[in-house]
Amino acid sequence: MGCRGFVLCLAVIMVATMWCENAAEPNWHNCEPEVIKLDPCLAYVRGKGDESALSTTCCSRVSTLVKSIPQCLCFVFNSGPFIFGIPINQTLAHNLPAACKVKTPPASILCKDFPPSF
Ligand SMILES: *[C@@H]1O[C@H](CO)[C@@H](O)[C@H](O)[C@H]1NC(C)=O
Repeated sequence: MGCRGFVLCLAVIMVATMWCENAAEPNWHNCEPEVIKLDPCLAYVRGKGDESALSTTCCSRVSTLVKSIPQCLCFVFNSGPFIFGIPINQTLAHNLPAACKVKTPPASILCKDFPPSF
């Protein structure tokens, strides 16, 4: 492969990388900062299902996430009993969008391409 071939290869790799990034494939790498933004929701997901633990900050973050990369919610849904080492109640984590009255596709559809854990 000569110099031109190499440059062509490089161009193909760059385009492929850009295409991948444009597709914004949700993965743990790009969901992590999004999930961290849900930290105002910890009071609710660690609580006893008391909706008074929900803050407007929490719900607006949930709503923003659902409008941008809703699949990132799957990392919360599928995190198991701990997220970032913090114990949470999975039932409440699943209930979070509904508790905030934010419409999301059912987890079975939203998360069908997601591994059960990260
Ligand atoms: C999680 O929250 C639900 C709903 O409030 C409650 O019924 C359940 O007991 C909680 N689970 C744990 C492990 O605390």
